[in-house]
Amino acid sequence: MVLEIPGATHLHSGKVRDLYEYGDHLLMVASDRISAYDFSLEPGIPDKGEILTRMSLWWFEQLADIVPNHVISTDVPEQVAGRALIVERLDMFPVECVVRGYLTGSGLADYAASGHVCGVPLPRGLVDGSRLPEPIFTPATKAEIGDHDQNITFDHVVDTIGAEDAAALRDLSIQVYRRAEEIARERGILLADTKFEFGRRPDGTIVLADEVLTPDSSRFWPADAWEPGRSQPSFDKQFVRDWLTSPESGWDRDIESAPPRLPDAIVEKTRERYLEAYERLTGRSW
Ligand SMILES: Nc1ncnc2c1ncn2[C@@H]1O[C@H](COP(=O)(O)OP(=O)(O)OP(=O)(O)O)[C@@H](O)[C@H]1O
Ligand SMILES: [Mg+2]
Repeated sequence: MVLEIPGATHLHSGKVRDLYEYGDHLLMVASDRISAYDFSLEPGIPDKGEILTRMSLWWFEQLADIVPNHVISTDVPEQVAGRALIVERLDMFPVECVVRGYLTGSGLADYAASGHVCGVPLPRGLVDGSRLPEPIFTPATKAEIGDHDQNITFDHVVDTIGAEDAAALRDLSIQVYRRAEEIARERGILLADTKFEFGRRPDGTIVLADEVLTPDSSRFWPADAWEPGRSQPSFDKQFVRDWLTSPESGWDRDIESAPPRLPDAIVEKTRERYLEAYERLTGRSW
């Protein structure tokens, strides 16, 4: 939803966030919108935008010794207070820097078909939810609106942005994932995989951008329910998915009609899950 924000010019809206030009900088606004099964759902989850903004900010701080980030200020216009960040405007690399520590989703599909993910060979016998021997860099292209991201090989990244930058993005992504995975695991959350975006300052410095390590850019699994060989419950969206696919919702996933409106109880339980993720990770109370 495009807001009238003094001093801000709307540039772009994604499924969940809206981007504005803000003087020389950008204003990244996180809404309460939630998506599942590629549909944007109604209603939003109260406070989700603020919870995820604070979570992302907290992660940027935990990672600052590994890589600089694009955050300039949280001093944002009143009407988006708490759920927006003023960030440096960077020249973005056209690569979704995905790291996987566990196998699922499109990684699992590629592995089942070829034994590889993005050109990385993996051992035999892995199943849905298996922990990988080492985290792997599995880049993707940024999809056009409405399309899915396309997995690509590291060599493809080299062809796109050159060997030096490709290696830098891969190494930074893996380092950041390792740090984050360890922090999350200590707090009972498995960081199955995640997506980073990097950009470059005019002086050439590579900077971590976008949102980081939120449930919208990552798969969070409750560690105590992890059981390879089946699809893992999602830390944040499980109530939503379970309800949507239950007879109660009356929704048929196969006909491509919009899902029904979420009941209040599902919205409230989902909000509590986001709060729980925030509080567990950061150790701060909301
Ligand atoms: N510091 C930055 N400078 C310039 N562009 C940035 C910066 N940080 C993030 N971006 C870009 O801002 C955009 C944010 O868009 P957003 O994620 O909301 O929507 P989307 O990527 O088009 O769709 P989706 O909802 O699937 O994520 C992305 O294109 C991202 O690359
Ligand atoms: Mg995006």
